[in-house]
Amino acid sequence: MTQTHFGYQTVDESEKAQRVRGVFDSVAPRYDLMNDLMSMGLHRVWKAYAVLVANIGPGAQVLDLAGGTGDLAKAFARKAGPTGRVFHTDINESMLRTGRDRLLDEGVVLPTIVCDAEKLPFADGSFDVVSVGFGLRNMTHKELALAEMNRVLKPRGRLLVLEFSRVAPPLQRAYDLYSFKVLPLLGRWVARDEASYRYLAESIRMHPGQEELKALMHKCGFGHVDYHNLTGGVVALHVGIKC
Ligand SMILES: C[S@@+](CC[C@H](N)C(=O)[O-])C[C@H]1O[C@@H](n2cnc3c(N)ncnc32)[C@H](O)[C@@H]1O
Repeated sequence: MTQTHFGYQTVDESEKAQRVRGVFDSVAPRYDLMNDLMSMGLHRVWKAYAVLVANIGPGAQVLDLAGGTGDLAKAFARKAGPTGRVFHTDINESMLRTGRDRLLDEGVVLPTIVCDAEKLPFADGSFDVVSVGFGLRNMTHKELALAEMNRVLKPRGRLLVLEFSRVAPPLQRAYDLYSFKVLPLLGRWVARDEASYRYLAESIRMHPGQEELKALMHKCGFGHVDYHNLTGGVVALHVGIKC
């Protein structure tokens, strides 16, 4: 049996997706509130930056993977307009349902599909832009997922990976303190789930850093890859072009 990481634990590959599902089933109802509290609102800025860089125009075909409660899909839909199409997708029904209900309350109607980024139900060359916000870290086979993202992009299409990354050394101590002391407590008080927020802190440390992810994206078929560090590397936006 092949093994992988779930945070700092080593688990069978077959177990990881189940454990990740457990995390997001548990946090879905309080996900948006926790995002605002944990990041002190910064996740909105990181996402706004990703939308700016995506540079989506009217008529664009966009696939948002691991879309959760739909922040990115909603922003993309505004840019793509009525002639474009934005798919809001996630492997987790609880997250997707929470997001779909929120978008409907805001008058945004998007095709919403439960799908695993590692096995995409779309034809080759379907999209101008594929995005994955804070989702790649949770996937068991990142290479498979990145290769799938490459497959469904049109030639010259762009992949945007917004993800936690490696912070600049001067921030390291404060960031570790915040991640391992404050986050789990916030999780306990607000989401009644300390373990899931401990997993968040651990999974960030296990995820490839900026240069490693760039190399992985090249390996998975992206001819040009660049990244932008945000908030001192707390988050990085990687942009890969299929060429
Ligand atoms: C931290 S949330 C991010 C949600 C949203 N993109 C955002 O930025 O707020 C991570 C999401 O990744 C999803 N996910 C994990 N593994 C996945 C996979 N293999 N395919 C698609 N989605 C996945 C989870 O269900 C969860 O909703």
